[in-house]
Amino acid sequence: MDLPERIVVTGARGQLGRALCALLTDVTLLAIDLEEADIRDGDQIIPLITEFRPDVVIHAAAWTDVDGAERDPDGAYAVNALGTQNVALACQQVGAAMLYVSTNEVFDGRAEEPYREWDAPAPISVYARSKWAGEQIARMLLNRLYIVRTAWVFAPGGNNFPSKIIAAADRHGALRVVDDEIGNPTYAPDLARAIVRLISTGRFGIYHLTNEGACSRYEWACEILRMSGREHVPVTPIPSSEWKRLATPPLRAVLANTAAAALGIRLRPWREALKAYFEESEPPRG
Ligand SMILES: NC(=O)c1ccc[n+]([C@@H]2O[C@H](COP(=O)([O-])OP(=O)(O)OC[C@H]3O[C@@H](n4cnc5c(N)ncnc54)[C@H](OP(=O)(O)O)[C@@H]3O)[C@@H](O)[C@H]2O)c1
Repeated sequence: MDLPERIVVTGARGQLGRALCALLTDVTLLAIDLEEADIRDGDQIIPLITEFRPDVVIHAAAWTDVDGAERDPDGAYAVNALGTQNVALACQQVGAAMLYVSTNEVFDGRAEEPYREWDAPAPISVYARSKWAGEQIARMLLNRLYIVRTAWVFAPGGNNFPSKIIAAADRHGALRVVDDEIGNPTYAPDLARAIVRLISTGRFGIYHLTNEGACSRYEWACEILRMSGREHVPVTPIPSSEWKRLATPPLRAVLANTAAAALGIRLRPWREALKAYFEESEPPRG
């Protein structure tokens, strides 16, 4: 199967959305974000999508402020659950397939082994529950659906862990970083390439797509500092119980890419992806 001809990307100005739009240059693309239509408002988003008559909608728009979701659960659900419902309804009306981008945080992070696509979600934060609600609504409304769960997304120009670590290192000269939260760093351009391959297969289903390998936040921070020429910045590993935040993140929500690997879709190891991130954004210092 070939790449579908008419594609909508929601969240087009976000980290993943920008990477997708940069790849989708040979298709007829409708790139939309909050400025074009608020997905919470069905009267805005549904006609915008249905009039375009897409073959596929890649739904990357989301409320991604995990701690902010604890302060404003209704706000998070309005975007991640009801907004997803509006996008799915638009797909239903025109017979478009949908790819819903979800999160590793749908799992509680207590398993010793990486989570497979068929493991049972048990979200423990408001953000995670709102994204899981989005998955369930999309599944109820559509059968031509890809669900792609990813984790720890970073891209040049984004508000992400590498940019926060670099800013904090430059501001404070020393860092404390949790070493008991384990996940899969995922470079948005690599994820976008995998998604574009996936929507060319017609193999609807649930997929876990992250860069290969897992690490702790502490290990990731050390690599960020090393690769950006800041290895002299001291980093102290701390338990997450010492890092107070509103949301409780799952401690070991590591994803195994089983389903996409069966289609030959794999992402490179996260350290290689992090190197590419620095090559494609600011030049390393030092
Ligand atoms: N970032 C991660 O670490 C991570 C991890 C796992 C899964 N994910 C999932 O991956 C997807 C992409 O993440 P990302 O990092 O690219 O997110 P992002 O950079 O925060 O982009 C999300 C985009 O959605 C837009 N948006 C928010 N509310 C909207 C609304 N009501 N109507 C229309 N657009 C709206 C945002 O606009 P504004 O910026 O103007 O609000 C933003 O441009 C999301 O579904 C997210 O849940 C992300």
